[in-house]
Amino acid sequence: MSNAPRRLFLYAASSCGLLSVLSRSVAFGHDRLNTPSQTKGPFYPVPEIGKQQHFDFDLTRKSADSPVALGELISIEGSVISHSERPLGGSVVEVWQACETGRYNHSQDKNNRPIDPNFQYWGRVVTGEDAKFRFKTILPGKYPGRTPHIHFRVVSKDRPELVTQLYFAHLEELNRKDNIYMSLNIGQRDAVTTTLEKTPIDSTKKTGETILSGSFTIVLGSLADTKSTSPM
Ligand SMILES: [Fe+2]
Repeated sequence: MSNAPRRLFLYAASSCGLLSVLSRSVAFGHDRLNTPSQTKGPFYPVPEIGKQQHFDFDLTRKSADSPVALGELISIEGSVISHSERPLGGSVVEVWQACETGRYNHSQDKNNRPIDPNFQYWGRVVTGEDAKFRFKTILPGKYPGRTPHIHFRVVSKDRPELVTQLYFAHLEELNRKDNIYMSLNIGQRDAVTTTLEKTPIDSTKKTGETILSGSFTIVLGSLADTKSTSPM
């Protein structure tokens, strides 16, 4: 965290009784603030989850031999950690989002943009001991009234469930018009905004193919942590 957001948080924390908790955390080397929660929204894929047969890390196609979804392919890599940067292995990480047209695969999404039959819409992974995850997906389309975003839900043993949203730095103009995004303070926005950069698809760099990649570090508090917040 840069100094400016840290000062901002210290000021906010002192005014709402959190400073003693923060000080105690820093004293013990617990230096990371919780990833802020964001609204779950109306399109969490239930009961669609029960009908969806494919829910692996690759949302760009429903199976290895099926057609690829429309849209700009992106990769989001990250990890789930504690305040002290301890990897929280065995975490369940779910994502759901709109397809290229801005439509969710949910019965409550009444906008008339077409569904992409090849897009997986929802994915779930369970991290290994290193707590790392990766999703291959597309840059979400623009749902009316929102800036493009990916919903995340993270469940880890002995930790409060986190529901949040990930945003894209290159869409700053749209982000700044989004009330949900702007409800966060500057430091919180930084924590849920990723910068996409071209990276080689093949780690050996032999093919020369690239994909836009972003990272997302998810910090979960403890159950007793007063910094934890519930989704709106
Ligand atoms: Fe959404």
